Amino acid sequence: MSPPVAAVVVLAAGEGKRMKSSRSKLLHEIAGHSLVSYSIRTATSLEPERLVVVVGHRRDQVEEHLAEIAPHVVTAVQEEQLGTGHAVQVALSKLTGLTGEVVVTYGDVPLLTAETLMELVVSHRENNSAVTILTARVPDPSGYGRIVRDSGDLVDRIVEHRDAGPDELAITEINSGTYVFDADVLTSGLAAISAQNAQGELYLTDVVEVARTSGKPVRAHLIDDLWQTEGVNDRVQLAQINAELNRRILVHWMQAGVTIIDPATTWVHASVDLAPDVTLLPGTSLEGATSVGAGATIGPDTTLIDVEIGERATITRTQGSLSVIGADASVGPFAYLRPGTTVGPRGKIGTFVEAKNARLGAGAKAPHLSYLGDAVIGEGANIGAGVIVANYDGVTKSTTSVGAHCFIGSDSVLVAPVEVADGAYVAAGSTITADVAPGELAVSRGQQRNVPGWVARKRAGTKTAAAAEAAQANADEGQDVK
Ligand code: UD1
Ligand code: CA
Repeated sequence: MSPPVAAVVVLAAGEGKRMKSSRSKLLHEIAGHSLVSYSIRTATSLEPERLVVVVGHRRDQVEEHLAEIAPHVVTAVQEEQLGTGHAVQVALSKLTGLTGEVVVTYGDVPLLTAETLMELVVSHRENNSAVTILTARVPDPSGYGRIVRDSGDLVDRIVEHRDAGPDELAITEINSGTYVFDADVLTSGLAAISAQNAQGELYLTDVVEVARTSGKPVRAHLIDDLWQTEGVNDRVQLAQINAELNRRILVHWMQAGVTIIDPATTWVHASVDLAPDVTLLPGTSLEGATSVGAGATIGPDTTLIDVEIGERATITRTQGSLSVIGADASVGPFAYLRPGTTVGPRGKIGTFVEAKNARLGAGAKAPHLSYLGDAVIGEGANIGAGVIVANYDGVTKSTTSVGAHCFIGSDSVLVAPVEVADGAYVAAGSTITADVAPGELAVSRGQQRNVPGWVARKRAGTKTAAAAEAAQANADEGQDVK
């Protein structure tokens, strides 16, 4: 945007009482990000010279959050919420020597897009307006300020619902609360307004009438997409706006070549990245910095948080976080990937397998019923069914390594710290506490001992004894034939 606007002011001092929350309304999230972060991102997209957020209620929480997500933002403190006009006055105290255009918007209107804000500024400039108001026509204008137009394209004033007469209440064009002001019109307008109204507040909206009285042109910029003007006041609206944002995110990805079988049960955070020809099956939730490579299939019933999935991988009925899954690998059904898990290309983490800080090399497989904790598993190694990597001795956690192309027999326990070198075998049912050298077979279990005739002596008269007797008779007959 050239030239940039002088300032954007984001109003965010209100109480948000109807959220009934110990957390600031602005920190409640949709699609994985705080409500206020959307306003900040949209405001930042204008590249304003200065960006001020007016904070008040639960300002400690808001300021801490802003310092984290948007250190470039300046905050202005409104101690008492005396109205939107007062809030902007407070912001102006941080904006000395202000000339040019000032955009005012709210911290709780998350679906307002950067494009709409830019269009608002462009419309303001092209029409040489003193104030441009972002407006919408809504089916139910209750509670909103109404746009009172003159006979032409100018706006005369904005009347708040509680101050409106019957004719004004019938107006369906509403003030969204987002505006562009010429700085001098804003400053002189705010100096002229008073709190003579139903709520005893300083209304920012009264600046419009002040501007018109001094002959300045005020115009409305009407948009069709009502969601962009919707604020969040309670948790019902939070859920509705979250669902709408999710729907928009899914539409974006479908248009980019992602197949989504059931959009109603698929949730994708704003920060997720998906390649073309990804397929998302029902009940999938992709969160945080998750990314999915081309041709991969995720779901059904899978939640991935900060997981990187390679091309053509399949992830079925899995819960995972902070993990990296290679190309053509497969995970699940019913797998649990905990932080630090990496699976190499063509690797496999199968059914009822939990992995934590486990690194599987290319083609390594743990197909069934395992716990892999703090383990490094070489390429092509095969971890048998039911193998447990015991990483914790009750005091410390240690690492286990399994070399390339090892074969760890089913139901073995590898007690960390222990190293199984490349090309070694571990016999099924072993408990391994000492290192195994390349090419060795490690066996660690009681020698098998068979006691002939035990069932006949100790379990006489049972079906088991009868089965044994019959089998023995059969075997003897076979002997006779020979
Ligand atoms: C305001 C507008 C109304 C518009 C509506 C759109 C005024 C007088 N009215 O009404 O025309 O249709 O928004 O939602 O401006 N805030 C502060 N400090 C304050 C008061 C408010 O920071 O002292 C912030 C709130 O946190 C909120 C925003 O300003 O983000 C709007 O405040 P709210 O009380 O919701 O305004 P409305 O009365 O709904
Ligand atoms: Ca409101």
